[in-house]
Amino acid sequence: MSLRAVTICILGLAVAPVLRAKEPRQIQESGGTFVGSVGCKSSSCHGGAGEKRSQYFTWNRKDFHTKAFTVLLDSRSARIAESLGIPTAQTSARCTVCHSPLQSVALNRLTPNVHPDEGVSCETCHGAASGWLRGHTRQDWTYNTRVGAGMRDLRSLYVRATACAACHQSLAPELLKAGHPDLFFELDSQSVAEPKHWKDDDAWSGLREWLTGQAVALREMSWALASDLQNDEWSNARWNGLAWLCATATSAAAISSPVTQPSISPNRSDFTSMQTEADALARRASVSNWSEGSARNLLASLAALDSEFSARTATVPVLGQRAKRLVLALDRLANALNQNRGWRLKVDAELNQLFQDVKTLDSFDASAFAAHLKAFRDALDKAG
Ligand code: HEC
Ligand code: HEC
Ligand code: HEC
Repeated sequence: MSLRAVTICILGLAVAPVLRAKEPRQIQESGGTFVGSVGCKSSSCHGGAGEKRSQYFTWNRKDFHTKAFTVLLDSRSARIAESLGIPTAQTSARCTVCHSPLQSVALNRLTPNVHPDEGVSCETCHGAASGWLRGHTRQDWTYNTRVGAGMRDLRSLYVRATACAACHQSLAPELLKAGHPDLFFELDSQSVAEPKHWKDDDAWSGLREWLTGQAVALREMSWALASDLQNDEWSNARWNGLAWLCATATSAAAISSPVTQPSISPNRSDFTSMQTEADALARRASVSNWSEGSARNLLASLAALDSEFSARTATVPVLGQRAKRLVLALDRLANALNQNRGWRLKVDAELNQLFQDVKTLDSFDASAFAAHLKAFRDALDKAG
């Protein structure tokens, strides 16, 4: 078995026996002990006033992840659990692995005052804190010392995207069939929505996050399909849409780690080679340089693709998935340009229309989408 096919649980314990190989592949971490969010919340640490100390409050009051456990108690979760034939969602590793990850940790790795049902909390993302909790505030500790002591290197967008994608990209097909919402990963907008309790270093980091996130999503999707071929129209279309976006964007932006256009009837080796290409792109994208010129050029190239939709160059399900990925790309590019120039591109109405078009792909209308994409392009030209 290849190393990539091994499921590594997010919290480092040996894979829970109920999780089979096709369950999502989780992120690796050091074997430390978890102190729980209670260990981070003191007012002199991350539970204080002011931007520098308020991370606990941002998470506790605004972050979706604090509700990840309680969601498992609602009627929607009960219905999903029932159709999967599991007794309760809140105790099943098939749900808690993403919604309440501390529950899967062996008791000897939890300090006594931890609440295992605190949802997706500090250490889920930053790594078990026992190895660095005391030291990480020392003056003589650099960022690298902290990472060496087991803190996850989330400043690396490659590591960050991989950490989020562990829960936000691949879902076992049975869970989808049982009514779980589809997962659709896009690092830039989802980090803003979390919301961020940190500042990213520079003005163009949003685009770097967008492309790194799409590449990591493609890698994970390709890995999942290579290890468990689905061969149904929907799975292939979903993969095709994302691979098409990465291939089209890397070629338009002349990014030095290109992705090949996806095969229409992919086999296992197509998925495996796409996994490799996507990983290389993710590494490249995480350190990519963007400027107003390069963002503008890519936006113009992507906005000029309406004929691909009006000429029906693929099946409707494939075109729908491509459109959905394309709209997100247009949105993140426009957003980055707006943030960096101090004046807004007047394309909001056209962009909203495009979002509307891809909201439910069951009724995707490729000709209408092509017309709306053309309207977006015209508005962009006028905006200068
Ligand atoms: C691979 C990780 C993963 C697994 C496993 C998983 N979920 Fe989820 N679940 C998510 C993510 C991520 C979301 C948020 C989706 C979004 O809105 O983008 C979510 C959303 C949900 C929602 C909708 C919540 C809302 O606020 O609308 C419900 C209900 C839910 N999950 C129940 C379950 C149940 C029940 C199980 C087990 C049978 C389960 N999940 C297993 C990752 C997972
Ligand atoms: C869903 C994942 C996630 C969760 C949960 C999370 N963080 Fe973060 N955190 C991040 C990411 C991503 C960054 C940005 C990278 C970095 O600065 O290390 C970050 C950055 C930080 C920073 C650096 C802030 C800065 O501006 O440099 C602190 C401090 C922090 N988090 C503390 C916490 C605390 C305390 C909690 C729990 C109350 C928490 N985080 C929960 C993902 C998370
Ligand atoms: C351990 C699994 C896990 C990790 C790691 C994780 N999430 Fe989540 N996330 C979830 C679950 C489960 C939900 C659903 C919670 C709910 O609906 O109440 C969720 C919900 C969200 C939501 C709200 C729903 C949506 O999709 O708009 C955002 C935004 C989000 N996560 C962003 C992130 C980002 C950014 C990262 C990485 C920095 C991250 N998450 C890492 C499990 C995770």
